[in-house]
Amino acid sequence: MNVAPVYTPPPLTKPQTMSDVTFRDLREFIYTKTGIYFQDNKKYLLESRIAKRLQALRMERFEQYTDFVRFNSGAEEEKKHLFDAITINETYFFRNEPQFEVLEKTLIPELAKAKGTAGRSKLRIWSSASSSGEEAHTIAMIFLEKIKPKYPSMDLEVVGTDISPSVVETARKGVYREYSVRNMPKYYLEKYFTVSDGRYTVADAVRKLVRFENMNLYDQARMRMMTNFDVVFCCNVLIYFDAKSKIQVVSNLYNSLNRGGFLFIGYAESLHGISTAFKVINFPKAITYKKE
Ligand SMILES: C[S@@+](CC[C@H](N)C(=O)[O-])C[C@H]1O[C@@H](n2cnc3c(N)ncnc32)[C@H](O)[C@@H]1O
Repeated sequence: MNVAPVYTPPPLTKPQTMSDVTFRDLREFIYTKTGIYFQDNKKYLLESRIAKRLQALRMERFEQYTDFVRFNSGAEEEKKHLFDAITINETYFFRNEPQFEVLEKTLIPELAKAKGTAGRSKLRIWSSASSSGEEAHTIAMIFLEKIKPKYPSMDLEVVGTDISPSVVETARKGVYREYSVRNMPKYYLEKYFTVSDGRYTVADAVRKLVRFENMNLYDQARMRMMTNFDVVFCCNVLIYFDAKSKIQVVSNLYNSLNRGGFLFIGYAESLHGISTAFKVINFPKAITYKKE
């Protein structure tokens, strides 16, 4: 059988390589807007990620693109694409299980005691670099499964935020691929998802507890609006920041917490040299930082 050839449009001219001056200008712009710092040895990475944006805008020179995002007042939409292009959004359900265990078995009982069991109380948890929402939804599932039965008068609100608009969109839809659920205990998968055509949809009971917003952790004004949290997760994002931006972000996260609240950061991350404001609490496989 003859198959008609599929029409493929001619390739666009490949962008030129990025000059060192343009790399430094773009890196500085990204840094001042997001806190993300591209070291000298990451020039190639930045170039390959931005190349797609140049093609989408039919631009040939990185310099042209850099000037556009830096100086053109009409570039607001493009900045969102830029943040999408430069961020690494790797995540999955139950990513750091020891942290969730500490949350369930130690922190929530302590918070519940402090809040008092008389009357309704609300637990507020922020997944502050939530990517496509797996961490935030994991917290909500654990709450429904393990916390609510023990503390029936306790409610939960999880806020998930991320700088990258496309992952926030995915988080809001609550529909995932196999890759995201690969570490998920089977019990949770069967109870809190419906599966169709290889797509895993989070149950409404879970989604109702979570909302997602597009937000930059490096935006001081927005950060000041994030208050009254009992627990903040800021996992696997500090690694992209330099010391100065880590200090700024962690200090704002400290202010976002209620007294007696807890911060989690990524397994490979540390607050050493970044903040002494928290009390460090070590568990066998997890660390949490308490605001006393
Ligand atoms: C590797 S993912 C981590 C996701 C999740 N917290 C986890 O540990 O599985 C890092 C996320 O941080 C987000 N991010 C990077 N810089 C950010 C910033 N300045 N403000 C908010 N989110 C940021 C990225 O878009 C990305 O989705």
